[in-house]
Amino acid sequence: MGRSLILDRVSGETSGGFLDQEIVLFGPGESDSGHKLRSALSAEFEVSTPRTSLDFIRTVAESEGRFACIILDMTAAHGRNPELVLKDVIRNLEGRADGPNAKLIVLSEDMDRAVAIQESFRRVDQSIVRPDNWGDIYAATADALTVRDEVSWETLSPVQRGLLKQTRRNIAKLQESTAQGAALEQEMLTDISGQLIRAASGGELIGAMDALRSHHADTFGHSLKVAGWMTTFGLHLGFRKSDMEVVAQGGLCHDLGKWVVPNEILSSPNRLTPEELEIMRRHPDGARVTLEKTDWLSFPVRACMEMHHEKLDGTGYPYGLKGAEIHELALICAIADVFSALTERRSYKAAMSKQKAFSIMDEMVAGGHLDGALMEKFKEVAS
Ligand SMILES: [Fe+2]
Ligand SMILES: [Fe+2]
Repeated sequence: MGRSLILDRVSGETSGGFLDQEIVLFGPGESDSGHKLRSALSAEFEVSTPRTSLDFIRTVAESEGRFACIILDMTAAHGRNPELVLKDVIRNLEGRADGPNAKLIVLSEDMDRAVAIQESFRRVDQSIVRPDNWGDIYAATADALTVRDEVSWETLSPVQRGLLKQTRRNIAKLQESTAQGAALEQEMLTDISGQLIRAASGGELIGAMDALRSHHADTFGHSLKVAGWMTTFGLHLGFRKSDMEVVAQGGLCHDLGKWVVPNEILSSPNRLTPEELEIMRRHPDGARVTLEKTDWLSFPVRACMEMHHEKLDGTGYPYGLKGAEIHELALICAIADVFSALTERRSYKAAMSKQKAFSIMDEMVAGGHLDGALMEKFKEVAS
């Protein structure tokens, strides 16, 4: 039982994990939704919540660059024109050497206003309509912080840095385009897999994957990690060059079925409840809608999307397949998926070291969940 719990916990089933990031939030007021927003963000970030606009501006001015994100909710009554508050905040940020690092998110009551804010204040990173659903605000905050995370990539070689930035954005686009269960775009997918294969063949990919390792678990960062590890692993296993495209695509696409899972569950800062987990587990099934519309996709890529949560002993989902019934590329995908999930930050845990991840995965091999021979090969390349 313990083992299967571990697998459930780590197999890519939550996102989030910014406990080391400080943000400042002003404006949601004392309403019910204001409380909800504050407590949702506090579960995930270190949150300062100044009570007056003067306090807010002072907090930003004296922050010494420690805030990763500044959120101003303009929909609540401030006792002061919210645009003037925004102007003061921007002036304070602009006067500081470390100001450019803080992401500024503004919440407005409707789309017209959100667009107007974005047009008149170029310093605003995201201007969004204040959603009823705190999961959307969480996602916007996480998105802003992802860009901030990229600052730490500056130590990489220019090739590695360019690769990560480009593929990460392309994967986000890929996910957006399939978000409603639309068909996959062949050209886009071929482009991204080509980039990964070139980088892996040139020896640039492992360093880049290491840099990405402890980044938080947003869905596209996670897909990039899984695809990167699968590509590196595939070359090491000696797959033919002509098969490598399929290997990379399997990783890029494995979680695309997540579009069927509501944002609130995907972005939940807490461990999922049994009911939420049940909904999350529908994602391999959600892939089917995309697959029906995408007839050019090869069978091994389909297998990754539908079978990456199957376990050798038949206790996985959605089909409970056993042993040789599970496609080999899906077994490879499962290893890359679990390794990526263990070593990325989550809301309830820090990033785990590779060695600790390997020892947990060894237990999964012993428990009949992961393939032992493949696991040994994976360690050779990922250690
Ligand atoms: Fe995954
Ligand atoms: Fe998954």
